[in-house]
Amino acid sequence: MSKLEAPDSKHKIISSGNAELDSKMGGGLPAGSLTLIEGISGAGKSVLSQQIIKGSLNNGFTVALFTSENTVKSLVTQMASIDLDILDFLLIGKLRVYPVELSRLKQKAPQALLAAIKQERKFDIIVVDSFTAAIAHAADDEIILSFFEECKRLCGSGKTVIITLHAQAVAGDLIGPIRSMCDAHLNLRSEQDGQRIVKTLEVAKVRGAASVTGAVVGFDVEPGWGMRVIPISKARG
Ligand SMILES: Nc1ncnc2c1ncn2[C@@H]1O[C@H](COP(=O)(O)OP(=O)(O)OP(=O)(O)O)[C@@H](O)[C@H]1O
Ligand SMILES: [Mg+2]
Repeated sequence: MSKLEAPDSKHKIISSGNAELDSKMGGGLPAGSLTLIEGISGAGKSVLSQQIIKGSLNNGFTVALFTSENTVKSLVTQMASIDLDILDFLLIGKLRVYPVELSRLKQKAPQALLAAIKQERKFDIIVVDSFTAAIAHAADDEIILSFFEECKRLCGSGKTVIITLHAQAVAGDLIGPIRSMCDAHLNLRSEQDGQRIVKTLEVAKVRGAASVTGAVVGFDVEPGWGMRVIPISKARG
């Protein structure tokens, strides 16, 4: 395997590995940004973050994933099921996966997660999938906001941080400040339309790519393939 050079984060973009999806996001997510991937259960937060993880690894970035949903083994299997093979990257240390039981940590979850993230100095990209369980037990809003503020600070020093979140788990007056703090905000929706489930990705914001703000793309998750962009009209049936 050829040695992958560490990219200069200031000038690179984070790719989902899917050209169509990237173009809807203004070419991809800017490196050094704080990204929020929001959506209800089954909307595609994990699949999208898995696409971004594999796309980033292919482009030479190193990634640390904190997952509250998978073990290393189940993640490898899940990603392989949508054609995202990560074994080699795990073996050479370009990808590190930390299963975290956020619900068990209760009130300490945000701070414990932040401390763990800060230890990963070597890694270009930090992904948290998902942060929802850390919110459930948080004592107050300040702790959640300061978690995002600290993540933003890490981005200021060149790291890229991607956080998935079930928006409905967050109190109404808290989600606004969180969204504003993020450089990129992707909103995933999954709605029943008659017999079909319609999945959409709304590019609510991508810093430096104002032209894509508000773009909505329809997609399906296909076994053996992953996210496939489909026309919204078709998605809506
Ligand atoms: N290998 C696969 N083959 C087919 N569909 C899949 C595959 N993996 C995931 N999906 C589908 O993709 C959709 C999105 O799943 P995903 O796990 O990304 O949702 P999520 O937003 O992370 O949900 P949660 O909040 O429950 O974690 C689901 O409908 C799921 O069934
Ligand atoms: Mg998930």
